[in-house]
Amino acid sequence: MKNLKLSSLIILLTLFTYGVKAQGLKDSYEGIFDIGAAIDQRQVNGFGKDQIAHSILAKHFNSVTPENLMKWGSIHPSPNTYNFEPMDKLVDLAESMGARVVGHTLVWHNQTPNWVYENEQGERLDGLALIKRMEDHITAIMSRYKGRVFAYDVVNEAIFDNGEYRTSKWYEATGTEFIKRAFAKAEEIDPDAELYYNDYNMWKPAKRETAIALAKEIREAGIRIDGIGLQGHYGLESPSLEEIEASILRIAEEGFKVMFTEVDIDVLPNPVNRHGADIDATFEFEEQYNLYTDGLPAEIQEKLVKRYAELFELFKKHEDKITRITFWGIHDGGSWLNNWPMRGRTAYPLIFDRNYQEKQDIIQVLHEIAAK
Ligand code: XIL
Repeated sequence: MKNLKLSSLIILLTLFTYGVKAQGLKDSYEGIFDIGAAIDQRQVNGFGKDQIAHSILAKHFNSVTPENLMKWGSIHPSPNTYNFEPMDKLVDLAESMGARVVGHTLVWHNQTPNWVYENEQGERLDGLALIKRMEDHITAIMSRYKGRVFAYDVVNEAIFDNGEYRTSKWYEATGTEFIKRAFAKAEEIDPDAELYYNDYNMWKPAKRETAIALAKEIREAGIRIDGIGLQGHYGLESPSLEEIEASILRIAEEGFKVMFTEVDIDVLPNPVNRHGADIDATFEFEEQYNLYTDGLPAEIQEKLVKRYAELFELFKKHEDKITRITFWGIHDGGSWLNNWPMRGRTAYPLIFDRNYQEKQDIIQVLHEIAAK
């Protein structure tokens, strides 16, 4: 009996010293940058196993991004219908745990219903009419969450990887005008909210330079833009730390805040060695790209720990420029990478495993980096 007590004491002490820290990541990174997570309907509802999401959020995160709930198709599915309830619940939840909400996203070419671009006859709207529709959408959302949503990804992914503007329906109808007008409207409706441009593959110089030129144009027109979000959907090897660092430096040098808004690290191979996060670039499922269905081999886990460590060392080095690091999901089981760029895979990109348990090796290292 005595031995049993002693051994449980030792286990507890070991856990306390090396294992699950009582302190959350947000506490370790207090004053450095915000630590965020994207959450979806399931985590907001918190039924069954997803209840654990609430305690993880409360412990580790002081920033929350809706993974899908504020996208046009979700919050404004048809011309006269706003589906605010799920987003209201997310905001309530975030507030109950003292986390700030980042609104993602007001204007995007994806997850935006076709009716947005069309009149009642199904013909494409002209630029003016489309901008009016966009402004009404921004007004409805930002008025509702004024003072409660701290910042917005006003425009998402308007630039191709080669630095040219994406030929989206927004661009076809208005050129780059929709971007400026979106920021102007956002500033008008909630002058206290921070406003960002957000995109993937921002380590590619051509793309990043167009984003910077765009942000400067907006600012020179007297319109607010506070920062540029780098999504951060990365692989184990690519992009290099140098490439990422160059973007941090360039964006900060031009006077914009930098944030990593959708961080995850894909350990799985894919057919074309893809980069980034073009959600339309998908492939048929093939078993050869789904290597780790029974768990991640130790050597790959080590690579993942190392990659997270190097990234966070870089982020910490530039803490004066970076305001937030957001993970795109909480746990591996909920990650979009299980279904993109291929459906039905077993992905390991995040810092909590499929059972919502802390990946202690990663989290420990992240705590240590914060303390350096
Ligand atoms: C993804 C979500 O995670 C998925 O659940 C959804 O099916 C598709 O969109 N870039 C973005 C995010 O800005 O909004 C995308 O999120 C991932 C790529």
